[in-house]
Formats: sequence, structure tokens, C-alpha cells
Amino acid sequence: MRTFAATLALAAAATSVLAAPAPDTAALHRRAAGKLPFFFPESVYEAVPPSGKASFGKVSEDKAVQIATDFLVAKLGITAADFKVYSSFTDASGTTHVYGAQQANGLRIANHQAAAHVQNGEVVSFSSSFGTSQQPTKPKVPAASGKLTVADAIAKAAKDTGIPHHKDFAAVSEYVNTGSGIVFAHKLQLRDDAKAQWVQVWVDANTGAIVHSADFVKKASYKVVALPKMKPTQGFTTVANPENAAASPNGWADSTGTTKGNNVDVAKRTASEVAQTYGKSTNGVFDSAWNSAAAPSTAANIQASAVNLFYIGNVVHDISYQYGFTEKAGNFQKDNLGKGGKANDAVVISVQDSNGTDNADFSTPADGQAPLMRMFRFTSTTPNRDGGLENVIPIHEYTHGISNRLTGGSATGQCLETIEAGGMGEGWSDFVGLVLTAKSTDTRTTKIVVGDYVVNSSAGIRSAPYTTDLTVNSLKYSSLKTRNEVHDIGEVWVEMLWEVYWNLVDKKGFSTDLYNAKSTAGNVVALQLVIGGMMNQPCNPTIIQARDAILKADQTFYGGKFKCDIWKGFAKRGAGFSATTTKTDKTDLPSGC
Ligand SMILES: *[C@@H]1O[C@H](CO)[C@@H](O)[C@H](O)[C@H]1NC(C)=O
Ligand SMILES: *[C@@H]1O[C@H](CO)[C@@H](O)[C@H](O)[C@H]1NC(C)=O
Ligand SMILES: [Zn+2]
Repeated sequence: MRTFAATLALAAAATSVLAAPAPDTAALHRRAAGKLPFFFPESVYEAVPPSGKASFGKVSEDKAVQIATDFLVAKLGITAADFKVYSSFTDASGTTHVYGAQQANGLRIANHQAAAHVQNGEVVSFSSSFGTSQQPTKPKVPAASGKLTVADAIAKAAKDTGIPHHKDFAAVSEYVNTGSGIVFAHKLQLRDDAKAQWVQVWVDANTGAIVHSADFVKKASYKVVALPKMKPTQGFTTVANPENAAASPNGWADSTGTTKGNNVDVAKRTASEVAQTYGKSTNGVFDSAWNSAAAPSTAANIQASAVNLFYIGNVVHDISYQYGFTEKAGNFQKDNLGKGGKANDAVVISVQDSNGTDNADFSTPADGQAPLMRMFRFTSTTPNRDGGLENVIPIHEYTHGISNRLTGGSATGQCLETIEAGGMGEGWSDFVGLVLTAKSTDTRTTKIVVGDYVVNSSAGIRSAPYTTDLTVNSLKYSSLKTRNEVHDIGEVWVEMLWEVYWNLVDKKGFSTDLYNAKSTAGNVVALQLVIGGMMNQPCNPTIIQARDAILKADQTFYGGKFKCDIWKGFAKRGAGFSATTTKTDKTDLPSGC
């Protein structure tokens, strides 16, 4: 288990969409987010009381489909030719679910849907979006022809939306109820490469207008301490759709719409870590109303913490993914989506864990076993403070998982066990926390303090602020002659990495987009070098070996372009060219630098 705090109580060390949108009007018109036209007639849903007759017993699925179809045709007052079943299945309870749509001239009316559910040979409930008071059963239907070809419709829709045509989906002719009548349309899909936008549209085959649409990208928002902010006193803001499509193609939250998903599972838990309370959302909105004057344990504050931890855990998952912490590299996911590595190891996060105080920790078993992140309350203030709201803390904890899985391969979980390697583990964790909270206005001499919110002290919990200014933070390689606690060692390692980081940022600039790992901005290069170094270094590396692994990452990723920037950073803090494991400061550089 790797922890956050050193100067405080020391924890033990070991290795360790969502529901359908609520109908608010008779017909659902697309909320503004979608921008494209959307019309869906109001649905009716009715339960059918059991007949009370002797049980019919189980019937075959085919038979159930026939029963459902006969029922719907009779109920809606249409002919069998007006209705077509599109899918059906039988669940574990033996109930067969049958879904279809009205059709005309042999074509589906896209938004005239109906379903019936059959148990023991009887329909137990049904629904429809036509045959209602607003939507007549027998609408006026135009001819199945239009002035525009499919190619015309595709060209116009792509131009109007700015989203390229998705060729994998062949266009289909359908009718659409626009709310003011039925039109004949071409159904097609538009999608961009990053899958940031993926919509299905129905284009009126006569006018070329998009008359209806379905957005396949789930929308979600989170009210959190948005990065690069560090702490809740800087304010909560709502972040919309932060999910990265490459790293989290199915979004962050699973179908429960809670702080539970493929990457992290965040809840207030019992002492034995059984989930009790998840953060919640309504229609994809993870709202929160943090109250700094109330105890962390109020329902509102637990929600705020759970949502923030869900956000941070997912962001670190998605960003680290870009730099190579993928399924094959042993990352943390419940489902690896067929991309390799071992699954079933989403990070279990314990909100305000009851088993400790004034700290946080992270246990990393080998790939395929879920890690546990425990976030404790900090007790030096009244009310207590919640570590889950000071972003550097959960980033620090999650990064323990990254460094543990990447060093020596993901199958071991035992490669950062020596004091020196464990110390670097603490250092990488703080370093990634600094990179993810860095601001474009920061400079190499900005004093970065961590943990100041949770302990309510401007000094925070490290011995000095992080900066490249030697007069503010004088730590050097030789400091390790007297520092032998992992967090104390980590501070020295961070200073070395921070020098390298600033050499790169001063030379190559700063990007606010950490998701583009291909960027040549200095902060992006620094993060790639550090994560790349983890992949190269031996099990239980020394500082010299970890430095050399970073230099190797510079060769493999950038052809050795940043070699001297790296050497200069390490040399300034005493780990120069002729430094050895004796930890005597050496500030020399190799020839050519
Ligand atoms: C957690 O709390 C339980 C019950 O209070 C205790 O028995 C257990 O040792 C604690 N676990 C840790 C890791 O501190
Ligand atoms: C935090 O520290 C400041 C300055 O020492 C003090 O005035 C304030 O009351 C403290 N806040 C809490 C919640 O303890
Ligand atoms: Zn730690």
C-alpha cells in the first residue's frame, strides 16, 4: 500500500445513460445539446393485469412474439401488415420482450414504435408511441419516393453538420413523423474519427433537411473541482462530456448512472469495503452542492466527493492511456473491450474511508485484480476535510497504480519495493499530480504546495514547495544520504523530474491539452518521458537506473532529441553524468551536452 502523507499519521506499508429522458412535454423535442432536430411522439405504457385464468405455462419465443404481435395489432387498431417486429429476446425470468414499429408501404416509420412483454403466454405490459391521443394510428403517408438520391442526402447532411459520412452504415429508406406529418427520408450516419461525434440522421428525401436524429454519444456532466484546479476552495464547476473516446469508448458511467463504471468504482463503503452509497446522476448530470461548513459525512458532501473522485479517477485513466498505460500495459478496467491485458480491475475507490484518518492509500495487486484506493478524512480542522476534494491526493494515489503496473511489467506488483524505488513511487505520484494541475501562467519558480487544503496550512505536507529555485527547495541527490523515508526520498526525485519538466516547458512550450500525447509541448513530452521511463526501468530501480530509463524513453519516443535537457535537469540536482549510487552530488554532463 502506498500512501500520500508522510508527516502525518502513517498508514501501514505493504504492497500492496442512462435512464430514458423524462418526458416533460407531450412530444419530446430535442434538448438544446443535440442541436439537430429530434421528434418523438409521447409514449404510453400500460401494465396488463394477469387474466387470472390457469397459467398458460411457458411458451416458445416464436409463440410469444406472435402473441405480442396479435395483441398490439388489435390494441392499436391496425392491420398485421402495418406492423413489423424488429427484435425480441427472452430474459432470465422467462419474459419475452418484443419490439417493433409501424410500417407503411413496407417501410418503417422510424419513430412510431411499440413493444409488448409476454410472460406465460400472456401480455403483461405494452407501450407505443403512436395510437395515442396525439398520434393517430392511421396517419397520412406520402409516396416512398423523393427528389434526392441517397448520395445527395449524404452530401447535404455532411455539409450541414460538418460531420463526415460514416460509410460502415448503409443508408436505409424510412418514414419519419416530424410532428407535423409523415415524410419519406433517407436514414444515414455521420461520425468523426475520434468518435467524439456520432449521429444518425433522417434526411427528408424531398427537401434535404434533417428532420430527425439520434445522438449515439452519451452526454454527461460533472460538477467538480475541475482540473487544473487543486482544491475545493477554488470553486466547483460543471465539466461537460470530459470522457475521452479512445480511452473510454463507452463513456465513464455504466447503465446505473452512478459513480460506477468501467474504469473506477467510487462509493462510500463499509469498513469491509462493501459499496453503500454511490454518487448519483439524473439524465447524465452528476450534480453536487458541496458545503464547506458542514461535515464531510453529510449526504451532499459525500455526493460531492464521490463525483469528484469519479472525475479524477477517470481523467487519470484517460490521460495515462494516451501515454501508453493501456489494456495491454496492465491498466485498470473492468472490461478491456477485447484490447488485451487482464480485465476485472477497475479501481475501487473508497470515499471517506472509515478505517483511517489524515492520509490516503492505494494498493496495487497484479493485472486482473482490482486495486483499492482509500481516501480518509483529515482531522486537523473542524469540520474535518475530505482528501477526495484536494485533487493532487487522488491523482497521487492513482499514479501509485500506474508506476506499480508499468515497472517490471503488470504481472508482478512487486517492483517498487526497495526503499529507493518506493521513494521514487511517491515522487512519481506527486509529479503526475503537479503535471495535471499545472497552469499556463506557472513558471519554473512558482512555488507549488501540495496538501495545504486538507491540513489547513500554507506549508502543506511536504518539507518545501516544489520549484526549480534552489533557494526555496534545495533538495539534491546527496540529500538521500540522510533521507530514508519514502515520501522524503520522493521529494528529491520530484525535484529532479521538475527540473527536467521545466527545461522542456521553457524550450517547447506548454499545452493545456494533455490528451494529445503526440504534441511536442514541453509538459506533454515530460509526461511521456516519465511514463515511458517506467516501462523501461528494471524491477526495483535505483535513481540512476530510473534516470537512464527516462533517457532511453527519449531515444525511443523522440530520437534522443531532449537528451541534454534531461541531463541538465538531473545534473542540477546532483544526479549528473558521473553520479553513482553513493549519492554524492555530481553536476557534470555527458559530452555533447
Ligand atoms: C479496518 O477496521 C477494522 C475494524 O475496525 C479493523 O479490524 C481492521 O484492522 C482495519 N483495517 C485496516 C487495514 O486498518
Ligand atoms: C485554518 O487556518 C486558519 C489560519 O490558521 C484559521 O484561521 C482557520 O480557522 C482554520 N480553518 C479551520 C476550518 O480550522
Ligand atoms: Zn503515496
